[in-house]
Amino acid sequence: MKFVAAKEMNTKGERRIAITPEVAKKLIELGHKVSVEKEAGKEAGFTDAQFEKVGATISKAPADLYKDADVVVRVSPVSDETISQFPKGCVLIGMLKPHTQADQLKALATHNITSFSMELMPRITRAQSMDVLSSQSSLSGYKAVIDASSEFGRALPLMMTAAGTVPAARILILGAGVAGLQAIATARRLGAIVSAFDVRSAAKEQVESLGAAFIEVEANETGDGKGGYAIEMSKDYQKAQAEKLGQVLETQDIVITTAQIPGKPAPVLITEAMVKKMKPGSIIIDLASESGGNCDISEFGKTVVKHHVKIIGPANMASRIPYDASQLYSKNIFNFLKILLNKEGSGLEIDWEDEIVKSTALTHQGKIVHPLF
Ligand code: NAI
Repeated sequence: MKFVAAKEMNTKGERRIAITPEVAKKLIELGHKVSVEKEAGKEAGFTDAQFEKVGATISKAPADLYKDADVVVRVSPVSDETISQFPKGCVLIGMLKPHTQADQLKALATHNITSFSMELMPRITRAQSMDVLSSQSSLSGYKAVIDASSEFGRALPLMMTAAGTVPAARILILGAGVAGLQAIATARRLGAIVSAFDVRSAAKEQVESLGAAFIEVEANETGDGKGGYAIEMSKDYQKAQAEKLGQVLETQDIVITTAQIPGKPAPVLITEAMVKKMKPGSIIIDLASESGGNCDISEFGKTVVKHHVKIIGPANMASRIPYDASQLYSKNIFNFLKILLNKEGSGLEIDWEDEIVKSTALTHQGKIVHPLF
């Protein structure tokens, strides 16, 4: 079979690539062909020569790339124009953002593409090695702390020098899921005093096991939802949470927010009134800005300074650490392919009753097959 990965830099500054040389080598060892668009890996730090060394071919034009493709592997959603270049009946795997890309779904069905969206991976033990949300969020949490530290005009660790003492910075992490826990670990390693908050009951122990303080909100309610995800909290809880966070925020130097509720806008945890009371020179990185933001004055894809606080709403954080993000993503894809291929790995043998297949399949045989769309 022929596997294909395109250069995605032209789509919203995407720097990752869906097939790395390491995974290309594995596919070629199974007897497949791998074709990669010229300079597709350049932004992530992979050269055409590295792909050629493992036996992949470099295609200069999309027509060559997609000709006879059996499986197209992508990071980001795909345009109508590109879909029209795919051979009819081929398989597409990517983070296709089906919740916001209805036109893409229709075009995939019309063009008879069998497509799978990796963000829909179920959170079951068997699928852990395919969980792209976890692999990419973990790197985003790490990178958010690194970016915040370089934006912050002060040091993070306590430093005692002959000229005086530099106090340790205080970092608050809101949302202690995959990204938040990695942010806590990174901030601790850099010597900051870290505290964190989450609505799920399991979060307290996880936060404390990483050496951070857990912020308690007094309420008879937890945010535990299905599959480890959170649910939306009641108005009373939100009020108690806002009071508590308002007090804590006044003492912080850096705040990284990661709180999400699946299928809903991100909960607003920081209001403009709270920002006004923060210390001048503080930094907020709102990793939830694409889904509305945890801070009500963050702007997606922009950095704004308001009330002497720098508020960053990064677009595509994982793409800011493209080498490692591509390595992990590509391995997630390879593990997913093992579900779609036969025992020998030589051809497709899709079990349409498999939970992983049913959860991720978007289109097949000219139809949208996912129950959510
Ligand atoms: P996410 O990206 O949907 O949300 C991030 C965090 O925001 C979550 O921890 C959530 O509880 C929190 N949050 C939501 N509303 C909030 C609010 N109002 N205030 C404060 N925090 C709020 O979730 P993520 O990070 O993808 O996963 C959450 C959990 O799922 C993980 O910690 C883990 O326990 C579980 N998980 C299970 C996996 C598996 O079994 N295969 C794989 C990955 C995660």
